[in-house]
Amino acid sequence: MINKNIHSICYGGDYNPEQWTEDVWVQDMELMKEAGVNFVSLAIFSWALLQPDENTFDFTFLDKIMDLLHSNGIYVDLATATASQPPWLSIAYDDVMPVSADGVKMTHGSRQTYCPNSRSWRNAASHLVRTLAARYKNHPALAMWHINNEYGCHTAECYCDNCAVSFRKWLQKRYKSVGIVNEKWGTRFWSQYYYKWDEIYPPRATMGKKNPSHVLDYKRFMSDSLLDCYSMEYEILRQITPELKITTNFLMGIDKLDYFKWAKEIDIISWDSYPDPAPSYNPALNAFDHDLMRGFGNGRPFILMEQAPAQVNWRDINVNKHPGLMRLYSYQAVGRGADGVMFFQWRQSLRGAEKFHSACITHSGDGNSRIFREVRQLGHELKKLNCITGSTRKADIAIVFDYENMWAFEYEDRQSKSVTYRDQILNWYKPLYEMNIPVDIVGTDSNLKGYKILLAPLLYMTKEGYAEKIKRFTADGGEYITTFSSSIVDEWDGVFPGGYPGPLKELLGITIEEFCPLTPDMKTTIALTDIDDTIPETSKARLWYDIIHIVDAEIFAVFSDALGKGYPAITYNYFGKGKAWYIGTETEPDFKKAFLSKICLRQNINSLFSLPEGVELNIREQNGKKYAFILNFSIKNASIDIMQNSYIDLLTGQKIHDRLIIESGNIRILEISS
Ligand code: GAL
Repeated sequence: MINKNIHSICYGGDYNPEQWTEDVWVQDMELMKEAGVNFVSLAIFSWALLQPDENTFDFTFLDKIMDLLHSNGIYVDLATATASQPPWLSIAYDDVMPVSADGVKMTHGSRQTYCPNSRSWRNAASHLVRTLAARYKNHPALAMWHINNEYGCHTAECYCDNCAVSFRKWLQKRYKSVGIVNEKWGTRFWSQYYYKWDEIYPPRATMGKKNPSHVLDYKRFMSDSLLDCYSMEYEILRQITPELKITTNFLMGIDKLDYFKWAKEIDIISWDSYPDPAPSYNPALNAFDHDLMRGFGNGRPFILMEQAPAQVNWRDINVNKHPGLMRLYSYQAVGRGADGVMFFQWRQSLRGAEKFHSACITHSGDGNSRIFREVRQLGHELKKLNCITGSTRKADIAIVFDYENMWAFEYEDRQSKSVTYRDQILNWYKPLYEMNIPVDIVGTDSNLKGYKILLAPLLYMTKEGYAEKIKRFTADGGEYITTFSSSIVDEWDGVFPGGYPGPLKELLGITIEEFCPLTPDMKTTIALTDIDDTIPETSKARLWYDIIHIVDAEIFAVFSDALGKGYPAITYNYFGKGKAWYIGTETEPDFKKAFLSKICLRQNINSLFSLPEGVELNIREQNGKKYAFILNFSIKNASIDIMQNSYIDLLTGQKIHDRLIIESGNIRILEISS
């Protein structure tokens, strides 16, 4: 539960009243109530107005709006306002502005432009947060804290002299001696050997390729530096308001912060979801991000902190959300575990960089718009879903996702730039999505208890302890599936001695002699070694093939074409009570689907309903009840056979018998009593 006073799904959005006169605030209150808004995020970018200079605070506007929201029954997700410092702070202290890898020092004029290791910035931010928290700690509207905003969105890296000093301290803590840094980074290569800590710099611009281990550690350091900024604020808030939940909103698509690590420090995961409304966009991508968020919180409900009511302003072509699409994506969020649906933003700005970003109240300024009507309809519907809050999802399959692995694999030089980590994960996620089989996304150190199948596509890096953990998972009866370019390097991006796949050789029962990346015009073919009536006998493969040698494993498929001809392509190895699979190429989507559905069948994993293509199913559960969110993303109406008649449509209250028709773009939420 977000707050003891809020018993329904949180609904509202970023509210920036400082851009408006007070008569507009009064109108906002009426429109918010009309739309069913019960929660707003406030003061995200208010620092400059709250603190005119270093020694003066002015809370006049915030006092007024907090009181006004409270008197209208609307709770506040109060931001700490540190997302963008005022110009006077950037100018007063030389260490505030970040420096790029090329040595360019930034200038004030946008947002979130500060060095995460600037002492002056941190002092000023903690002063602001302490003052703000002390002032509003007992305010009846305050329901949750929102620290900063989308850390790493604009400034995920800084290369200034302060960062150099902090980086050395971070390295000293991690490695204790320069000798170990040399060993882990392999600095005998290219004459990079260090004798003193002071010889180590951030990986700034160089004429040739940088040391990959150095680059990787700098990414870890930067993620940790921003996490330190967050923790600094968290500790202040925790001390002043011990009972309130604290969040910071994550963003997808930048992947610069190790969110699995961050999530351990966050009370409620929240994130900002901006699926492209263009018809070519696959909703599976957004579904994956929701599953990832749930994974960060170990299955706990999260908040959809921002979504666009219609179009954004930052794509090359900002396609509008057609009528109904915002509602569809809102229910995708709730179905996948969100207990809050929020927008960026409440009222559309008239000035500034985001003036063409959609909002609940459009430039017309009133509630007389298609967008507002949809916002209002959704607000009214969500009020019928109080029973959903707190419910969770169950999955028998998990997919491993690891940031450090991605950072290491995606070093500027690699075997193939056509291979990217996210795509590899998504290529295995999509068939399960299409089969409507629930999947959890886990980190390399997550608890695997209860999962029957664990997929680890392209897990290039094998961290200490991971091989043992996976051996235990498999020996206990789990099915482990991994793919090409896995278990090549240790956590410092150094190749395991003795060949691939490093510490997973015993589990997989194979060795890999060579890997062969392919250009788009190079294809190969795989052929099953045994006839199987559910999986195609031969299938095209692309992108990559491995030269695999069998030690103990069985061969499931071989390369049957010129490329890799005769060598195993897919293998499995019995290990204890389980099985470990290795897939040494990029198979076609149809093959993956057939292959996974066969494994799911054997493991007794299936979807609750059989649904037409393009119809997404999400199930949340609580107190012996299941809630099925059926979302028709396809352009056709869907006709669904209902096996029993104990389903209740939560929005209409009607009982559902035999057949259900869901029009294109529409949704149904069914309560299923077991
Ligand atoms: C988010 C950000 C918001 C707003 C929004 C526009 O990244 O948190 O402040 O800029 O994007 O889509």
